[in-house]
Amino acid sequence: MANALIVLGAGKGTRMESDLPKVLHPIGGAPMLVHAMKAGATLDPDRQVVVAGHQADLVEAAAQDWNPDVQVVRQSEQLGTAHAVAQARPALSGFAGDAIVLYGDTPFIRPETLDAMLAARATHDVVVLGFEAADPGRYGRLVAQGDALERIVEFKDADEATRAITLCNSGVVAADATTLFDLIDAVGNDNASGEYYLTDIVEIARARGLSAGVVRCAEAETLGVNSRAELVKAEALFQTRARAAALEDGAILTAPDTVMMAHDTALGRDCIVEAYVVFAPGVTVESGATIRAFSHLEDCHVSRGAVVGPYARLRPGTELAENAKVGNFVEIKKAVIGEGAKVNHLSYVGDATIGADANLGAGTVTCNYDGYFKHHTTIGDGAFIGSSTMLVAPVTVGAGAMTGSGSVITTDVPTGDLALGRAKQVNKPGMGKRIMDRLRAAKAAKRKG
Ligand code: UD1
Ligand code: CA
Repeated sequence: MANALIVLGAGKGTRMESDLPKVLHPIGGAPMLVHAMKAGATLDPDRQVVVAGHQADLVEAAAQDWNPDVQVVRQSEQLGTAHAVAQARPALSGFAGDAIVLYGDTPFIRPETLDAMLAARATHDVVVLGFEAADPGRYGRLVAQGDALERIVEFKDADEATRAITLCNSGVVAADATTLFDLIDAVGNDNASGEYYLTDIVEIARARGLSAGVVRCAEAETLGVNSRAELVKAEALFQTRARAAALEDGAILTAPDTVMMAHDTALGRDCIVEAYVVFAPGVTVESGATIRAFSHLEDCHVSRGAVVGPYARLRPGTELAENAKVGNFVEIKKAVIGEGAKVNHLSYVGDATIGADANLGAGTVTCNYDGYFKHHTTIGDGAFIGSSTMLVAPVTVGAGAMTGSGSVITTDVPTGDLALGRAKQVNKPGMGKRIMDRLRAAKAAKRKG
């Protein structure tokens, strides 16, 4: 059956004490909202709607950056979760099938759990995802008999007996879309918060003779982030899971607790990741590559057999071909390092194409920026760049060519040539000793006087 996703992200998140809307706070380098959308996307939804409100432009940009097909609707006043869902109605006009509501501040729902909810729709008109909370805190409470759900009571509206219930509301709801919007029409705001609660649809459904049911999941899945402290907990949980998943997929993490993963880090079998490596988003490391300690990688691709670090920084647009080597204190940006090529020490390579088996000596710098524009450097296969060469882009060094150490290369070097772009050395016989003798004498005279 067709299904549609509605992800709520309009709230300010007052308890975050932040200028950034709550759902844009990152976990594993991606906004919480994107985590919820990724989980929902595994259902292969026919439509995806995000409800934005507080700083809607930012939320819209983040949602569409993840998936340009997402429809973003506005909830200009945040009058509650039912009111938020109601804003999605026009975006779902003409849609027939189930709607699944996810909260943008609940990032860890598993695809299997969403499948179970859609399956439970066979027996219930409204399906709510619940969990047994170790500390139920401010979560809404589910009043249920077995799998049958009677009503949901918000913490603020609950009496002592209801607050004692430990079965809590995750916020995830599944129902036929038309039924959902009909039920929401009947929701009022006569409660402790003066808000239109989505949770009220359960009682309304029951009163109309419809059935409501609860699907249970582990508490770790439904962790809702409302404060900085909860965000830190969520990040830690994410990291624990991401590291475990990487190990399960065959990567070697020598000190997993020190490695920071992103939401989309892809590590191949038998690749080695040493201690204190940070993966920002967009990194793929192929099988058998090695990332040595204290390296930082972002939006880049490392091929088989390549070695990175220790202490290397791969910035966006870096592509290391097979067996390439990038050593300590080297920064690479938007550059292709060819098969077997080496950039082993203290270098900056940006906006460049480095040929196979080229060797860039210590301290090589591509001078790619003139203050206004970026320019490209091309180094041919097997070229040898002497230590401390400044390559003033745009410039090309041909295949098999060499540059002398300390050269400033401003014009192209033809294939096979040697370029010397530095002042010619002059030796003055005996002059070194004469200068030092004079200075030593001057210093001795000063001490006496
Ligand atoms: C909500 C549930 C509660 C549940 C908890 C789980 C309701 C009434 N309560 O409470 O039962 O235990 O989540 O985490 O649904 N939002 C909007 N527009 C609004 C209000 C909220 O888009 O007008 C969005 C928020 O951005 C957020 C989500 O809905 O992503 C949940 O809102 P929040 O205010 O955090 O609800 P809780 O009080 O946590
Ligand atoms: Ca919440």
